[in-house]
Amino acid sequence: MQRPYIITINNLSKVYTEKYSNIQYKALDNINLNIEEGDFTAIAGPSGSGKTTLLNIIGALDKPTSGEVMIENTPLSTLTATESAQLRLKNIGFVFQAYNLIPTLNSLENAEYVALLQGVPQNRRRNEILQILKELRLDNLANRKPSELSAGQQQRVAVVRAILGRPKIVLADEPTANLDSKTGAELIELMKTMSQNLGITFIFATHDKMVMEKAKTLIQLHDGKII
Ligand SMILES: Nc1ncnc2c1ncn2[C@@H]1O[C@H](COP(=O)(O)OP(=O)(O)OP(=O)(O)O)[C@@H](O)[C@H]1O
Ligand SMILES: [Mg+2]
Repeated sequence: MQRPYIITINNLSKVYTEKYSNIQYKALDNINLNIEEGDFTAIAGPSGSGKTTLLNIIGALDKPTSGEVMIENTPLSTLTATESAQLRLKNIGFVFQAYNLIPTLNSLENAEYVALLQGVPQNRRRNEILQILKELRLDNLANRKPSELSAGQQQRVAVVRAILGRPKIVLADEPTANLDSKTGAELIELMKTMSQNLGITFIFATHDKMVMEKAKTLIQLHDGKII
């Protein structure tokens, strides 16, 4: 049985204009794509093919030049900046390198931060974080700051933070970059389990063959087009 689409993308293009030369560059070229609820989707493609640009637009962090993204039938173009921020906070978890952990907070506090903004009650926050940290074998690291964690441990804390607020969608940009293959595989398994258990839709950009193989849906981008 086909599940409803959580994300619908119609005729999406993104043109960047270089600051000084005014040269235009089409990073996304007429993308059409539907993503089912609960899907585990990989966006693959060479460097510069538009993966991050697409994730940024799906996550309402950036606006397209033309075309539309709808999340649960809400066209993102109709949202005010405040409404976009609300949508991100309530519905979308991010595992992006640009949204790294906060250096002065320990793992527990970093994981808790988004849930705090969402108004999740403290009891549920703490209990749930500790439980998830345990499942990820991170419970002994709850008091450590990011600088005291390996890259893989930091990525896992970022995944905990992303899923804690029960988002409908998690967007992850190169979640296994900088990880050894074993840690990378563990992280993907973790995300897959979260997707199955909680019905979260995962979309991740990747270069990693192993990650592509674990995806339920594989989308290949080349020069801003789906191939
Ligand atoms: N702010 C920007 N201004 C101008 N061009 C940009 C900007 N951001 C991205 N681009 C260009 O758009 C294209 C797509 O970039 P994007 O970051 O989406 O690629 P990517 O597939 O994520 O690459 P990578 O695998 O290296 O992360 C690239 O050619 C890039 O140089
Ligand atoms: Mg990228």
